[in-house]
Amino acid sequence: SEERQRRLRQPIVAVLGHVDHGKTTLLDKIRGTTVAAKEPGQITQHVGASLVPSNVIEKVTEPLKKLIPTVKLELPGLLFIDTPGHEIFTNLRKRGGAVADLAILVVDIMEGFQPQTYEAVEILKQRKVPFIVAANKVDRIPGWRPNPDQPILISMRKQDPSVIEFMDNQIYKIMGELAKMGFDSDRFDRIKNYTRQIAIVPISAKTGEGVPELLALLAGLAQRFMKGKLKYVEGPAKGVVMEVKEEPGYGSTIDTIIYDGIIKQGDTIVVGGIEEPIVTKVRALLIPEPLQEIRATKRFRAVDEVSAAAGVKIVAPGLDKAVAGAPIYVVEREEDLEKIKEQVKKE
Ligand code: GTP
Ligand code: MG
Repeated sequence: SEERQRRLRQPIVAVLGHVDHGKTTLLDKIRGTTVAAKEPGQITQHVGASLVPSNVIEKVTEPLKKLIPTVKLELPGLLFIDTPGHEIFTNLRKRGGAVADLAILVVDIMEGFQPQTYEAVEILKQRKVPFIVAANKVDRIPGWRPNPDQPILISMRKQDPSVIEFMDNQIYKIMGELAKMGFDSDRFDRIKNYTRQIAIVPISAKTGEGVPELLALLAGLAQRFMKGKLKYVEGPAKGVVMEVKEEPGYGSTIDTIIYDGIIKQGDTIVVGGIEEPIVTKVRALLIPEPLQEIRATKRFRAVDEVSAAAGVKIVAPGLDKAVAGAPIYVVEREEDLEKIKEQVKKE
């Protein structure tokens, strides 16, 4: 309908970082925390992504008002996408980084920068994607006293000075690595100019400490960088394949992130394949049932259409030859098919 097509496109936030540094745990925490906020119209589950509405973010960051400047989000919400940290998934991280409007770089505070951390920063730098650093696993710092789900500014006050000293030393190392790659950064509460410096937020994805600040700063970043860039969703969809999967009862499917436009059941799509572009027709579009984690359950709901930004599972013949990281385009007009196939080959 007309109304649905006049929807604003939400910014996509990619979560990137080295293997095991805590990306998925952080997203689980954000979901859990925001679910706990008990707001109407909570998190919509997507395939490989979670949409967190603005009112929920506001609620979670509300207790921070006295501690740091918070902004009112004039955006519909943020779509978070998880990416794998393992070295073999470079292509996927590049794609994830490419479709992202903003990013969270997750760095294990005990381990510091690792190969895929450098790689992620390189991708963000090339694509000019604004990001924030989550210095994760502060609860692993020797002597740390956990303060579950508290702002980190409050939790830091309850730590021994030697613990904070240790934490700051680890943060200095992260700042040093970022500096070598051309980025000026600092611990978030020492930043004077948010437009020039990258904020490093100490957090624990496990205890939830620091997650309120991380979300508040992300909202600020989104508000600043998306000003004037947000647009209404219209036209044929563009997306990226995150995973190729065999689904019982459906056959070959692809998990995708749709970053632009609209995709409908019955649409002709072109998807990057192992040998050549796959041209096929969308048999079904599946989204998880509300608040069900896609990996944990097998319960999907078929929908007629999906508009960006969204994560959706696409069922169509021939998708077993699709490759993770490949582009996907909806073909709106028959005469565009050859042009789009050429485009997909180039990508
Ligand atoms: P990949 O997807 O393989 O790249 O890993 P990931 O970055 O998603 O890491 P994941 O969230 O799977 O966490 C890896 C391990 O670290 C798990 O055992 C988590 O429980 C643990 N972990 C994550 N965050 C924290 C944290 O803040 N504190 C502690 N103590 N452990 C954490
Ligand atoms: Mg993970």
